[in-house]
Amino acid sequence: CGIVGVTGNDNAVSILLEGLEKLEYRGYDSAGIYVNDLNGNDYLVKRKGRISNLEAAVTPEVHGSVGIGHTRWATHGVVSVANAHPQYSEDHRFYLVHNGVIENYKELKAKYLSSVTFESQTDTEVVVQLIDRFVQTEGLSTKQAFLKTLSLLEGSSYAFLLMDSTDPETLYVAKNKSPLLIGLGDGCNVVCSDALAMLNVTHDFLELHDGEVVTIKPDSVVIEDAEGNHVERDSFHVSMDAQETDKGTYPYYMLKEIDEQPNVMRNLASLYTQESGRPNIDQDLINTMKQADRIYIVGAGTSYHAGLVGKKLFEKLTHVPTEVHVASEFAYDNPLLSDNPFFIFLSQSGETADSREVLVNVNAHDYKSLTITNVENSTLFREATYTLLLHAGPEISVASTKAYTAQIGVEAILAKALGEAKQQVIAEEFDIRQQLGLVATGMQAIIDEKDMIEDLAKKYFVPTSKAFYIGRGIDQTVSLESALKLKEISYVQAEGFASGELKHGTIALIEEGTPVVGIITQKRTANLTRSNLQETMSRGAQTFTIVRKGLAQDGDTIIIPDVDEMITPLLSVVPAQLIAYYTSLNKGLDVDRPRNLAKSVTVE
Ligand code: G6P
Repeated sequence: CGIVGVTGNDNAVSILLEGLEKLEYRGYDSAGIYVNDLNGNDYLVKRKGRISNLEAAVTPEVHGSVGIGHTRWATHGVVSVANAHPQYSEDHRFYLVHNGVIENYKELKAKYLSSVTFESQTDTEVVVQLIDRFVQTEGLSTKQAFLKTLSLLEGSSYAFLLMDSTDPETLYVAKNKSPLLIGLGDGCNVVCSDALAMLNVTHDFLELHDGEVVTIKPDSVVIEDAEGNHVERDSFHVSMDAQETDKGTYPYYMLKEIDEQPNVMRNLASLYTQESGRPNIDQDLINTMKQADRIYIVGAGTSYHAGLVGKKLFEKLTHVPTEVHVASEFAYDNPLLSDNPFFIFLSQSGETADSREVLVNVNAHDYKSLTITNVENSTLFREATYTLLLHAGPEISVASTKAYTAQIGVEAILAKALGEAKQQVIAEEFDIRQQLGLVATGMQAIIDEKDMIEDLAKKYFVPTSKAFYIGRGIDQTVSLESALKLKEISYVQAEGFASGELKHGTIALIEEGTPVVGIITQKRTANLTRSNLQETMSRGAQTFTIVRKGLAQDGDTIIIPDVDEMITPLLSVVPAQLIAYYTSLNKGLDVDRPRNLAKSVTVE
């Protein structure tokens, strides 16, 4: 979910709506705002669906200088206007927006609120009714009631933004696990889940830590820790331009972000390598990693898939055994660790709650960690021992593209740096700077073939309800990512598979015309994957290939330029990204905002 708030600006309505538009990637099943003009007029508008539906419902009469807003990714309660935020108390005095999950809301409701009539099925309504209840029955001030309510929320995650309509100038904020920032404006202050939302108002932000409570007025921000002590904190400056988040002439962000990949590769080469080709990575990080007897890579979704490629790179270039884990599993499965583990967190947003849960445990054990992320000052950025930024520019489309390739690029540079420090000859000979240059040119060549790929998507992937990507070794990891892309934006049930394993069961799914794409970039396994493709063809599959040039044969479908076999995912994924994009586009779907998803999932 995404949260925005503002106090002290007569354009509150447009600030909130523009902010919500920028946060739509965090969820888009319903949205709402509450605004107050400090003259006794207030307005609550909520709608199902996209922010554009909310905008259409906000009449010119709706105005104010203080307000809060929310865009929702449903957890508790179906998608409905009643379950949209802001939630409010029975007497319409308190209004609350929330990102997170209150685990004990049913117990709290039964214990304190049996006489209250509820309008929604949300855990959030329980919180706002509780605050009201404590004010009404115990004579507490709003802040005292807020603190008392917070103290009752066991094991919960939240970012709260609260308004009291009897003192509307003040915004109350609390945070635990879920992200939230305060922005410092000129005569006004704002609140947001992500700085992107408020770059039209300010570039100066304060981060918040878990357990902190903040009281915000137009001219003041008071942060208190869990014990009520005042906290002094310097602001940080976000230099990004509001325009950087525009899609320009592109129909969708996803196509823009696919097109940006060659530049992202060139950027990484110039930021993280020297002209001599040597890596340019913090020596302290390398020294720490040198002590590790095992590397644990943790991520979710596409970042997990980038981790699978990372494992191959680290094991080849550094000879350090490397495990890759899905964050949500690792957090609760207590895997057996080696004596000197080192953790790498991969996260585009730096906010994924599943990954954060693992990092909290890692820190509790004083293990060393590195976050590789695209977002400076994000939670995982702040809380890991070391950080490396992707410098890929904002990724807005829900389906991740340039962050995946940037993560692999950074992993390759890091693996080379560590391998060199460990005097591995293979690492010394691996010219990552030159390779990234070849990758950039190669990506461009594939992108230039987009018309051909669109034809393929229209003819074979738009009409199908299922599809397969297959490969071996590193190609298998790309098959997982390729299938995920197709699933998430075109709703084709796609599976990525180890090509040799298909015949042990899954091949039963192949029917006349089922598309099967073989990814073939590794010399050792090329012929094996070709045989596996033949096996599906004999059973009616419509087969395609994505092949590295040096291994190409007559009849191959998409030929990608030659690069070192260790980093072929950087190229072989690009046709798959484009197939997914054009399938979704030609099915008339919303490419950037697929159903049921959110880009940044800040609940476990
Ligand atoms: C969400 C997104 C995925 C993303 C995953 C991990 O589920 O829809 O596209 O891969 O989160 O996100 P992260 O920001 O941690 O890379």
